Amino acid sequence: MTGILNSRIVLAQHPQGMPQLSDFTIEAAIPVAAPGPGEVIVEVDVLGIDAFIRTMLEDRKGYHGSVGIGDTVTALGVGRITHSAAEGFEPGDSVFGPLGAQTVARLPAAFLRKIDTSAVPATTYLGALGLTTGLTAYFGMHAVGAIKPGDTVVVSAAAGAVGSLAGQIARLEGAGQVIGIAGGPHKTAFLVDELKFDAAIDYKNDDVALRLSELAPNGVDVFFDNVGGAILDAVLMQIHEGARVVICGAISQYSDMSNVSGPSNYLKLAERHSKMEGFAVTHFAERFPEAELALTGWLKGGQLVVHEHVEHGIEQFPRALQMLFTGGHEGKLLLSVR
Ligand SMILES: NC(=O)c1ccc[n+]([C@@H]2O[C@H](COP(=O)([O-])OP(=O)(O)OC[C@H]3O[C@@H](n4cnc5c(N)ncnc54)[C@H](OP(=O)(O)O)[C@@H]3O)[C@@H](O)[C@H]2O)c1
Repeated sequence: MTGILNSRIVLAQHPQGMPQLSDFTIEAAIPVAAPGPGEVIVEVDVLGIDAFIRTMLEDRKGYHGSVGIGDTVTALGVGRITHSAAEGFEPGDSVFGPLGAQTVARLPAAFLRKIDTSAVPATTYLGALGLTTGLTAYFGMHAVGAIKPGDTVVVSAAAGAVGSLAGQIARLEGAGQVIGIAGGPHKTAFLVDELKFDAAIDYKNDDVALRLSELAPNGVDVFFDNVGGAILDAVLMQIHEGARVVICGAISQYSDMSNVSGPSNYLKLAERHSKMEGFAVTHFAERFPEAELALTGWLKGGQLVVHEHVEHGIEQFPRALQMLFTGGHEGKLLLSVR
């Protein structure tokens, strides 16, 4: 035993629809055993609250796998090694990896990546330089969206982690007009005032199709979609000839994955010689260094506005997960576990 105690969030039942607090329990003061060969103990600092976590809570195996009843809920995080039985990993090293919704993780070091926190805070490896955030925005916009100078670009869930970076990357890569779709006047103001998007549509109060036809009368060249459902349908009606519709995610559909609502306006793709292409960031694993170089350059040059929303306390994990669906945050949603 290490003398260290862990508190973890456990799945009590598979959520039906929006995750409820009763779908989770917290187990506290669990003694942590010494690391086995190749393992390390990590004191978790901050967790990323990511949409894929919800898809893993389903009572069936999803793309990212599934969390069983009684298991620690999956989450990516950053932390510091306290004990090591793995070559190349020392106590004090900062690491990123699948630490789980808990305060202390014991896991194979092979699952972890050592991170350099001398130039950027550790949370940057969850946000702007994070797999599920910065890298996702980069490959979705740069590789799949294939931005061309002067393009009119629309991003949904634009005030969130991926969306806020995707829109800025579009601008950095030469887009002519960047329009964000988000919920509520506070978020649309954030997009225009802080992130310097050209315009924003409040899908909770505006008629999205009407506003798009006003803002982009010549059509949309690239749609970076994080939401799916009715928003995807509304933008499909407004695509330009040769448009690229990037399926990054469909957060409006994750609470009922057995009944995903497909786009009824997909024939616009044929009419306007356009394509719709999905991707998972892991498909670009061999090109991660390229994305890290580009993102680091923009960060160093002060060209990316990075926003983090931090909740506190491991016991707040279920509420933080709910926030991802109710939209109470801007930028990257994080949970500081202490
Ligand atoms: N392809 C990949 O490899 C990959 C990797 C990572 C993430 N993703 C996807 O990227 C998307 C964004 O993830 P994120 O982590 O950056 O989350 P996020 O955008 O920070 O948070 C989700 C946002 O979605 C909006 N939203 C939630 N429910 C909605 C609904 N029913 N209709 C419209 N908007 C809704 C909320 O903003 P509002 O307040 O504006 O509603 C919320 O802030 C997700 O679809 C996720 O699955 C894909």
